[in-house]
Formats: sequence, structure tokens, C-alpha cells
Amino acid sequence: MVQILTEFNGTRHAVHEINSKSIVMQSNNFNLWYGSNHALKDINLNMQENEVTAIIGPSGCGKSTYIKALNRMVELVPIVRTAGEISYRGRNIFANGYEVEELRTKVGMVFQKPNPFPKSIYDNIAYGPRIHGIKNKKILDEIVEKSLRGAAIWDEVKDRLNENAYGLSGGQQQRICIARCLAIEPDVILMDEPTSALDPISTLKVEELVQEMKEQYSIVIVTHNMQQAARISDKTAFFLNGEVIEFDQTDTIFSTPSDQRTEDYISGRFG
Ligand SMILES: Nc1ncnc2c1ncn2[C@@H]1O[C@H](COP(=O)(O)OP(=O)(O)O)[C@@H](O)[C@H]1O
Ligand SMILES: [Mg+2]
Repeated sequence: MVQILTEFNGTRHAVHEINSKSIVMQSNNFNLWYGSNHALKDINLNMQENEVTAIIGPSGCGKSTYIKALNRMVELVPIVRTAGEISYRGRNIFANGYEVEELRTKVGMVFQKPNPFPKSIYDNIAYGPRIHGIKNKKILDEIVEKSLRGAAIWDEVKDRLNENAYGLSGGQQQRICIARCLAIEPDVILMDEPTSALDPISTLKVEELVQEMKEQYSIVIVTHNMQQAARISDKTAFFLNGEVIEFDQTDTIFSTPSDQRTEDYISGRFG
């Protein structure tokens, strides 16, 4: 891995730069506090187009906080303060006047526990497009089908689109949530432990889906499961106590990590 230096706020910092694919999101010395708790410390990371970036690390190390910072969801917690920057396609999302609603349509999120709305399968998927003003039934039908196909669940639900999404299994609900995210045509998809509430077969389906989706989207996935990170990601960032200890090609992280703490974590010595 090549390290380059960038200028930020007049000081120079090493940023991990890996290859020439374009960078979709990047953090430069990003810091975050919950009150006095310094939860993220000088995070320098970049996410590349059409790649899966995995974030691993023990509980409480800041993985969810970081992924929620990437679409500014973390600001819903009132005591949050940030410093440094995170850019999306070259613009600092924390800059004054940045259009956060638009950011959230470009940087979508899938949560740990499937959280469909208590509505029909169809209405779950059509919800976002309707909010964006799409009323035409034919167009909505097309979006619903395309999104459900994109989330590899069309065949399972195409004959029951008017049934309540709560009637589906957990794994199906999670794919509905992925389809709901696809319906707003995101660019980046953030996933916070999306399979931790799923059985092994549903987990496998979501993992396959992530692999397919990276052809069209850039994906950041938090996972507790190191085998999952090794199976599905291109790059892996290892977080510990709010810091990025190591960020590299997934193969390298899992075969020849350069930091002893990464090695200890991946070999199961803590976490
Ligand atoms: N809503 C919140 N309010 C205050 N502190 C929080 C909140 N969410 C997380 N934290 C704190 O931030 C740190 C990182 O938490 P989190 O990002 O959830 O870690 P992880 O996802 O890696 O388990 C922890 O110290 C946690 O207690
Ligand atoms: Mg978490």
C-alpha cells in the first residue's frame, strides 16, 4: 500500500491511498465527541467506487458512530460534536449549508435489525420515491419491481406485494429494507451489521447480494463477523477505541497485518 500525504487545515496527514479507482467518500482527521466522550479520533479513511469497505473491531470501538457520521445521521444525537471533515464526492458534508437531505438520498443506510414500516411490501418500497414526488402508478410499479429485483427478493414476494411486510421472515425483511434503500437510487450504501439478526442462510443471501450490488454501488459494511469481512470486502478498516489501527486490502489485513493489535484481534485474542 502506498501512503500519500495531503494538506488539511495547514497540517500534513498521511491518508491511505490504495489505487486509482475514484474515491467516493473520504474522511480527513475526522473526530467526534458524545459530550466529553471522544468516540472517534483522527479518522483518515477513504471509500472507493464499486468496492465493499468493511469496518471491523470490538464492541464500543466506534464502528456504528463512524458509519452514521457518513450520512450525518449521527447528528440526531444532540450532544454530538465533530471536527475535521468527511467528504462525499469531493465536498465536505459537514460544511455550513451542505444539503443533508440530499446527502441522505445519495448515501443510504441499512440497519442491524430489519426495520420495515408496518405497511405493505409495495408501500415500503414506494415510500421514498413518493416522498420525492413520484405519483405515477406505472413509474412506481417499475421502481418497486426493479428495487425488489436488485435486492434479490422479487421472486419471493411478487405475488404478495399488498401483504404487510411484517409477515415476512427476518431475512426477507432485511432484503425489503435493502430494496427500500435501492428505491431512492443511492450511490453509497451503508450497512451496520446487516446480518447479525439473521439465520445463516439469510446471511449468505445478503452476503451474495452485497457482492452483486457493488457492481453498481459503493458499500460500507460494519461487521462483527470477521469471516464475513474476509468473504465479501475489498478493503478492511480495523477500529479500536475510536481509532483506525489499520486500513488495507482485506487480503492483507487477514494474512499479513502490519500492526500487532490487528493481528491479535483477527486471531481472536480479544474482542
Ligand atoms: N447515542 C449515544 N450517546 C452517547 N454515547 C454514545 C452513543 N452511541 C454510542 N456512544 C458511545 O460511543 C462509543 C462508540 O459506540 P459505537 O459507535 O456504538 O461502537 P460500536 O458500533 O463499535 O459497538 C461508545 O463509547 C458508546 O458508548
Ligand atoms: Mg455498533
